[in-house]
Amino acid sequence: MIPPGYQKAANFTDLMDGKTLEAEVGPLPIFLHRRGDQVFATGVYCAHQDFRLNPSNCSGDTILCPAHGYRMNIRTGACLNEPDLFLPTYPTLVENGEVWVRLI
Ligand code: FES
Repeated sequence: MIPPGYQKAANFTDLMDGKTLEAEVGPLPIFLHRRGDQVFATGVYCAHQDFRLNPSNCSGDTILCPAHGYRMNIRTGACLNEPDLFLPTYPTLVENGEVWVRLI
């Protein structure tokens, strides 16, 4: 049973291992990053100055913002360039082949 507050974001089979997919949960665009059996959800705007990030700039566990070259960890949201900045991250669940995200 899915706990309250989670919304379906994708089917697990839509996600390729090691890749990042853009999805929408309600009105909010998010990125879903599949790493093996785990899925991490993050925001799509850079922690530095809100530049729109591109899934193609995700490599391993980091996503690069081309605006000023900042890198953010997709598992923790931590910005590798400025420790006070974080990319939003959201809890996820994978259940019965579906990926669920809690936005708050
Ligand atoms: S806006 Fe992303 S690095 Fe500056």
